[in-house]
Amino acid sequence: MSAPNSSIGLPVRVRGLRKSFDGRAVLNDLDLDIAAGEIFVIMGPSGSGKSVFLRHLIGLEEPDAGEIRVAGEQALPDPADPKHRLAMVFQSGGLLNSLTVEENVGLYLSEHRLKPPEEIARIVAEKLRLVQLGPQDAAKYPSELSGGMRKRAAIARALVMEPHLVLFDEPTSELDPLVALTIGREIISLNQRTGATVVVVTHDRDLAFGIADRLAFLAEGRILALGTAAELRASPVPLLQQFLAAEFK
Ligand SMILES: Nc1ncnc2c1ncn2[C@@H]1O[C@H](COP(=O)(O)OP(=O)(O)O)[C@@H](O)[C@H]1O
Ligand SMILES: [Mg+2]
Repeated sequence: MSAPNSSIGLPVRVRGLRKSFDGRAVLNDLDLDIAAGEIFVIMGPSGSGKSVFLRHLIGLEEPDAGEIRVAGEQALPDPADPKHRLAMVFQSGGLLNSLTVEENVGLYLSEHRLKPPEEIARIVAEKLRLVQLGPQDAAKYPSELSGGMRKRAAIARALVMEPHLVLFDEPTSELDPLVALTIGREIISLNQRTGATVVVVTHDRDLAFGIADRLAFLAEGRILALGTAAELRASPVPLLQQFLAAEFK
C-alpha cells in the first residue's frame, strides 16, 4: 500500500558549504545531495558540526560561502507554503515551557489559524497517539514529562505540520535504549506514512544503521564517506573506522 501523501518529500542539495566560528572552520567546503523521500543519516563524532549543518538547512545559520537548495529553491521555503513545509525536532525537544503538551503540539495550526480549534484538538490527539502519548500527558507541561516523553511530544509537534522535510538533531540522546528503539521506529513510520524526506544527525551508531537508507560520515568539516550501511561499514576511511570501532563515542 502506498502512503497517502507519497512522493511529497523534498530533495536537498548542498554545494561548497563553509562555516567558521572564531576563525575555526567547522564546515569546510561540504557537498551533499539528499534525495526526495529518503531517510538520510549524518553521523560523526561530537563537535564535528552535525548540529551546525542541520541549522543551516532550516535557516538558523547563515553560510559563510556555498549554497543550499531545498527542492531546487535557493531561498528557504515559505513556512506557509503548503508544498514546502520544513520541521525540525531539536535535541532538547524545543517545547515551550509555558504551554501544555497539547498547546505545543497544536501551535503550528493554531498560530497560523489553519484549522478550527475542535479540529486542532482532534489532530493533536491523533498525533500524540502515534507517539504513544495519551490525554493525561497532553494536559501536562513539558517540565512534568520525562526526557523521552518530551522527545516524543516534539516528534508529534513535527507530525502535525505534515512536513515534506523533517530534520532530527540527536533524537535518541539522553534516552534509555528501549525508548531510543521506539524513536527509531517512529522515524521510519513517519517516512513511510508520509513520504517526507528525513534527515537525522546523530552520534548513535545503532540508530544510524537501524534507520538509514543512506548515511554520511561527517568529520573534518566534510563528508568523508557516503553510502548504504554496508558500504560505510566496508569503507577504508580511517576516521570512520575509528568512529565505528570506538567503545564510547
Ligand atoms: N554559535 C556558535 N559559536 C561558536 N562556535 C560554535 C557555535 N555553534 C557551534 N560551534 C562550534 O562548532 C563546532 C561544531 O558544533 P556542533 O555542530 O554543535 O557539533 P556536533 O557535531 O556535536 O553537533 C563545535 O566546535 C562548536 O563548539
Ligand atoms: Mg549536536
